[in-house]
Amino acid sequence: MINILRRPSLGPDAVLAALREHYGIEGTLSPLPGERDLNFLFTGTNGERRVAKVSTPDETDEILEIEADLMRHMARTTDGFTADVIPSADGDWVVKHTAEDGEVHRIRLVEYLEGGLFAEVRPRSLSLLYNLGSRIADLDSALGAYPDHPPARIDFEWALGRSGLVMERCLDLFQGEQLELIQAVHQDWLRREPDFLGLGSQVIHGDLNDYNVLVSHPGEGPRRISGIIDLGDAHSAPRVFDLGVAIAYAILDTDDPLMSIASIVRGFHDRTPLSEEEANVVFTLAKARLGASVSISAWRRHQAGETDEYALISERPAWAMIQTLDEVPVRLAEGIVREAAGLAASPRTPVLVDWLKKQAFSPVMEIPETEEKISVLDLSVSSPLLNGRDTEDTEDFTRRVFRHMEDRNVSLGIGRYLEPRTLYLEDIFKGRSGDPRESRTIHTGIDIFCQAGGEVYAPLAGRIRSVVNNAQNLDYGPTVILEHEGPAGAFWTLYGHLELSTVENLKTGNEVAAGELFARIGSAEENGGWPPHLHFQIITDLLDFEGQFPGVALPREETVWASFSPDPNLILQLPGQTTFIPPRDISKRRPELLGRNLSVAYDTPLHIVRGSGTYLIDVVGRSYLDCVNNVAHVGHERRSVVEAGQLQMSVLNTNTRYLHENVLHYGERLTELFPNPLSVCFFVNSGSEANDLALRMARAHTKGQGVVAIENGYHGHSQSLIDVSHYKHAGEGGDGAPSWVRIVPVPDDYRGLYGRDIADRAVRYAMHVGEAFGSLSSTGHEPAAFIAESILSCGGQIEPPAGYLEEAYRIARSRGAICIADEVQIGFGRVGSHMWGFQTGNVVPDIVTLGKPIGNGHPIGAVVTTPEVAESFANGMEFFSTFGGNPVSAAIGLAVLDIIERERLQEHAAVVGGTLKANLASLAMRHESVGDVRGRGLFLGIEFVEDRNTRTPSAQAARYIANRGAELGILLSTDGPDHNVIKIKPPMTFNQNDSERLVATLDKILSEDMARPRT
Ligand SMILES: Cc1ncc(COP(=O)(O)O)c(C=O)c1O
Repeated sequence: MINILRRPSLGPDAVLAALREHYGIEGTLSPLPGERDLNFLFTGTNGERRVAKVSTPDETDEILEIEADLMRHMARTTDGFTADVIPSADGDWVVKHTAEDGEVHRIRLVEYLEGGLFAEVRPRSLSLLYNLGSRIADLDSALGAYPDHPPARIDFEWALGRSGLVMERCLDLFQGEQLELIQAVHQDWLRREPDFLGLGSQVIHGDLNDYNVLVSHPGEGPRRISGIIDLGDAHSAPRVFDLGVAIAYAILDTDDPLMSIASIVRGFHDRTPLSEEEANVVFTLAKARLGASVSISAWRRHQAGETDEYALISERPAWAMIQTLDEVPVRLAEGIVREAAGLAASPRTPVLVDWLKKQAFSPVMEIPETEEKISVLDLSVSSPLLNGRDTEDTEDFTRRVFRHMEDRNVSLGIGRYLEPRTLYLEDIFKGRSGDPRESRTIHTGIDIFCQAGGEVYAPLAGRIRSVVNNAQNLDYGPTVILEHEGPAGAFWTLYGHLELSTVENLKTGNEVAAGELFARIGSAEENGGWPPHLHFQIITDLLDFEGQFPGVALPREETVWASFSPDPNLILQLPGQTTFIPPRDISKRRPELLGRNLSVAYDTPLHIVRGSGTYLIDVVGRSYLDCVNNVAHVGHERRSVVEAGQLQMSVLNTNTRYLHENVLHYGERLTELFPNPLSVCFFVNSGSEANDLALRMARAHTKGQGVVAIENGYHGHSQSLIDVSHYKHAGEGGDGAPSWVRIVPVPDDYRGLYGRDIADRAVRYAMHVGEAFGSLSSTGHEPAAFIAESILSCGGQIEPPAGYLEEAYRIARSRGAICIADEVQIGFGRVGSHMWGFQTGNVVPDIVTLGKPIGNGHPIGAVVTTPEVAESFANGMEFFSTFGGNPVSAAIGLAVLDIIERERLQEHAAVVGGTLKANLASLAMRHESVGDVRGRGLFLGIEFVEDRNTRTPSAQAARYIANRGAELGILLSTDGPDHNVIKIKPPMTFNQNDSERLVATLDKILSEDMARPRT
């Protein structure tokens, strides 16, 4: 029933003998995969590599000859993208070799193309898939130029055109769910089969499976398709069949197969436009290839009488994909392909839109007499009207919306079409998985907000298609869908969030006249938990939905859903800008406006417009788990912090030259957190200012000038701080340390001067501090300060060996210097075990500088010091910082301290950070590229290496992980002098779920090619 060609039997020795005899070459062989040919990798004594192919006895000479000719044509026209065939010593493309048993074998020698197998590439990124599409277009253009058509093979089961037959013949080998799935694929094939006739025909590759596609190696820049091999299945068929086959294999194991399909199709179409007829069949073809593949496997197992579970394993990805694709409405999937090919996703929409533009409609609701009574509301992600989790408290949300409308004296508020929103906080809005950043956030209807009970009229005549109460929280509540006659068949209008009692009596099939009152707006109690409003939407294809239809879409599918649901204002005809206008790409404006050296994170910059807890949210509503922002200490946009600032700002903000309670109260609360004698504080506006002031104080106190700082350290951006920041002055654009600064080796016992195997490493590192002060004194710079972070951040999250700080402080003080602890990064409980990093080193500094987290994003800096140092600083020169310690900053600082204390964030950091560190350490057991996991509390670092023995830093892995993390919705960043450390310092409210998500995502990324050691 299914014809499977025999493989030839010829041992490697015999093949080597044949190569010697016919090609005059000597070397070794290793087997290569091949379904019906016997393939070997030949490595010549001169190192040259070739592929030797012994053909199946079932293939005709004519086919082999034409295949060799085709290979020559393709090698000539594709410039090394496909392999050439190499002639024998006698100039033959195919040689006939008689084996010892007398059997005659046909052998060809073919060029070996460099590259990894597409089958083994992880991840199959959308850009690689796009590239695959465009290279298939190139391949098929070259194949299309080949004049001869290969003779048809008989019973060639792998030809995509035979998929229908293959599936049909194997149907009785399946049962249960598998049978249902194959039947569905088969039915879909039959539905589309008539369309294949109009697709034309040319020579196609015929088997673009993932073992026949080669990819450039990781580390050679972005991965690209580097070659295509095996023209052994070339036959005449529509060129789009190559696309269908390639898609079937390329989407396996991808995060979102539909987006993967779209990328491949877009790549193809951008290179060689696909016709509408071609685009329409792509999805069916890809599914059919999967169906035929599992059918042939089942047939083989059946023939061999196998019941072996193991044989099934290789088919699992194909089955899983058939299942995944089966769950997607066919016309949605086809719409996604159409859109990628530059067509309207919903074929009916363009005609309908043209028609709607020419019609007049009755108002859906009572429209106020003047346009001023209607106002477009901003419900987009960045709207100040919203708080980010509005729908968790409908009453408050409702109050805000209606107060806003009252303030503007409007009776109707409009919620825009295609507006990105973060209102959809329930699981029902998760949408298809694939991009963990996304849920359904793009609004595909128009909302009309008005008081509950507002009347709803049919804008045009129709028939009731459905009346359903979609009662889940944040769903549509009572929903009516009307069916209308359009120019190209039916279309529908949807009315959501209605009053139940007003629609209960509506009957499916009943006619509704244009202008007929048929429903009223529901209240929050019955409308799905929303402020009262009507959700109105046009639908051009119900897909497989009944009683409801998605009213919000995934950002990556926005244009597709906008095609199935065109602009509702075509019917509503409301005044104003009722469609959300997406923000322009602002990345280009920065360099000339803000300077070229203002960096931006990630290869693909993020346009973040809202913060919420441990998440940052971008302009289309994609959310990112923030694992790196230690500024948002108590969580992004914490209500009480925001309100404290807003309240004080509305009363008074001025400098500290007047008496004000806030700054004193704040100073008291802050200094309470420090050990004696640190009891005096000075307020400024940033970490840099704090450190700069600290240096001035140290000089005033010691009368010296010399400063010792640590290698790779960073303390701020002012000139004095660049001078003491080795990370800056020794880096690109830096002028080195000035004469009054000495830099001591970083106490890094992983890759520094003294490793973990040296027992007295802490003391040895500390001794450099003494040497440095000695060197300063000898050049006339008397000691002023030793400045250090107690756990080094820019240096790569380095925790000095136990005893280092004690010894370094002792030595510094013995030389007459005072000690400054820079707590800008690590302070306020982040290290978990203590409130301040210096406490982990068992020291009490003379000056502590604070910044970043202190104001949870509001710019505050502080210096906390001893009365003695403060006294020395009060040398007659006034201390004044215009904004430092102002009532607003102090109010905000107090609100932050309240939360730290109330929520016991220090203890929280110890618990969550402890588990996180342990879980990161267990990643190290599975992933070779992890060299070291270190840090404390919620201040952790992972160092990446090419090789654990040599500890060669892998900046490539760290960079890849940070960028890939962002794609997967996890924000991380790199650090350390070798840029090979991933730092983790999230908002302190980071919880166990966040931590688990981070570890799972890292685990996934670390399995990917670019994060693995290159060897
Ligand atoms: C350890 C350390 N000190 C000081 C600063 C300077 O703080 P700011 O940028 O607020 O001036 C930074 C900033 O990254 C820092 O990491």
